[in-house]
Amino acid sequence: MSKQVKTIAVLTSGGDAPGMNAAIRAVTRKAIDNGLKVKGVKKGYQGLLNEEIIDLERHSVSDLSQRGGTILGTARCMEFKTEEGQQKAADVCKKYGIDGIVVIGGDGSYRGAQALARHGINTIGMPGTIDLDIACTDYTIGFDTAINTAMQAIDKVRDTSSSHERCSIVEVMGRRAGHIALWCGLATGADDILIPEKYDYNEQAIVDNIIRNRKRGHTHHIIVNAEGIGHSTSMAKRIEAATGVETRATILGYMQRGGSPTCKDRFYAAIMGCYAADIIAEGKTNRVVAYKNGEFTDFDIEEALSMQKSISEYQYRMSKIL
Ligand code: ADP
Ligand code: F6P
Repeated sequence: MSKQVKTIAVLTSGGDAPGMNAAIRAVTRKAIDNGLKVKGVKKGYQGLLNEEIIDLERHSVSDLSQRGGTILGTARCMEFKTEEGQQKAADVCKKYGIDGIVVIGGDGSYRGAQALARHGINTIGMPGTIDLDIACTDYTIGFDTAINTAMQAIDKVRDTSSSHERCSIVEVMGRRAGHIALWCGLATGADDILIPEKYDYNEQAIVDNIIRNRKRGHTHHIIVNAEGIGHSTSMAKRIEAATGVETRATILGYMQRGGSPTCKDRFYAAIMGCYAADIIAEGKTNRVVAYKNGEFTDFDIEEALSMQKSISEYQYRMSKIL
């Protein structure tokens, strides 16, 4: 029989992502609408262990949807990975009357949610990461803003590359996944898109492509390189030596995680937040909210974590042709 919850908490964990605030707002307001009390935990699982817990009311989350980052703060917490840490966190929940937690974060944060569920706290995960690297969902909070930020940056690099007739390697985030690179690369018409899922480390092919493009009269050459491959600066040096074409590396870095979320990130984060507040009110636990095949849905965390995310073969092949 499912356990009815009365008081829930919401926390953000792992890397921040634009749209997390819209999610916090939606969880809070919909949970209150469902008759629950809501608390906010600051700084992820670390803040839970440190008892950094605040009350959230409807008005506490006003004026939030348009703000980047997370008002609750986030952290990576080693202590919480231990059995003792997890028991302590569950004890803190009990002390504050928290019987359910909504965790907004990536795969790692889901494992934390799973651990809390094992200790009797109802948990619901929500996909918050710019990397789009969560297998059970076709959408993650922050990805849309991050790719738009990176796309605009690549467009700007293209202007200066063209003026100087240079080759530019632009490195985008994504941890071990190439989704950001694939989307931005295709959207900006990059000449080469390097993603960890497909890259064969054949630099000669890139060199040949640059020389071929020069012969055709191209004034620039844009390579979008995923963080999972990395080493953009040394790659630039090798490519310049092999082609004779001036080559620069730009590592976009944390700018991709910040900024005001796009309409899509605000909207999806809001709907997912409402969905999480609804299923936690129904007494569901150990579930993650997802957007799959055009529908908002939820999965058991174990099932979600066992799924494999892959790059679409068709999309990758088309990026090469275009
Ligand atoms: P993300 O959630 O973005 O994947 P991390 O992998 O850094 O980010 O995980 C965020 C936090 O979740 C970690 O700092 C840790 O506190 C918790 N966590 C990660 N893995 C586990 C695990 N196996 N068991 C319990 N907690 C975990
Ligand atoms: O998961 C989001 C992300 O920005 C990744 O793209 C990147 O690999 C990682 O976080 C960087 O993490 P940190 O903030 O710990 O440097």
